[in-house]
Amino acid sequence: MYRPAFKIENIVRLIFILHIAGVVIFTGCFRGSPSDKPPIHLNPNMDDQPKYKSQSESGIFSRGTNLTPVPGTVARGELRANADFYTGITTAGSFVEKSPVQITADNLRYGRERFDIFCSPCHSKIGDGTGIITHYNYTQPKSLHEQRLRDIEDGYLFDVMTNGFNDMPAYKYQISVNDRWAIVNYIRALQRSQNGKIADVPQDKRDEIR
Ligand code: HEC
Repeated sequence: MYRPAFKIENIVRLIFILHIAGVVIFTGCFRGSPSDKPPIHLNPNMDDQPKYKSQSESGIFSRGTNLTPVPGTVARGELRANADFYTGITTAGSFVEKSPVQITADNLRYGRERFDIFCSPCHSKIGDGTGIITHYNYTQPKSLHEQRLRDIEDGYLFDVMTNGFNDMPAYKYQISVNDRWAIVNYIRALQRSQNGKIADVPQDKRDEIR
């Protein structure tokens, strides 16, 4: 029977193996020993770019690349022209009366979730000031259902979250502006719920809760 000495598949295999061996030898032998030259970079893409990085020297500015923005520079999306919304305090300097974020069922649900995460460890889920942390020698907050806090402006509650209050830390970095207003809205719902009277319940539902 005729058997060819070199089957075509074997030749292809051989060429393939030689290629791999070539690459291994090429990359290995070139740089097998320590060198102070930068490594060979077969496919540099855009790894090396002529650009300035922060805190590096600059050929133009004596202070390097750490330049402060030109006075009055406003980053995109950071104008915050609406002081009422961002601070809870009007331009006249008084607390905003009513939350600028519309109260909807979804917003209240969201506010409750945020309140339970951020406030309940100290204020408790119902806001009476008996959160878990009060068992560990932390100042016990007053109840959010005190008449004073029920009558107070929405902007005040927003401000307490934003800047803290005596022993209470500020939450402006943890909780976004929108979320803080959602919490204000929820605190109002909480205050109503904890001071509810039977007369608040529609006539036909009263029997269900007695
Ligand atoms: C680490 C614990 C802690 C957390 C978390 C916390 N608070 Fe407080 N809060 C306090 C304490 C303590 C006080 C009382 C401060 C004092 O009188 O020294 C207080 C007071 C308050 C007051 C009353 C201020 C006044 O005029 O008496 C409000 C309103 C309030 N917190 C809202 C919130 C809201 C809303 C959150 C969630 C975003 C929150 N707190 C999260 C500890 C906390």
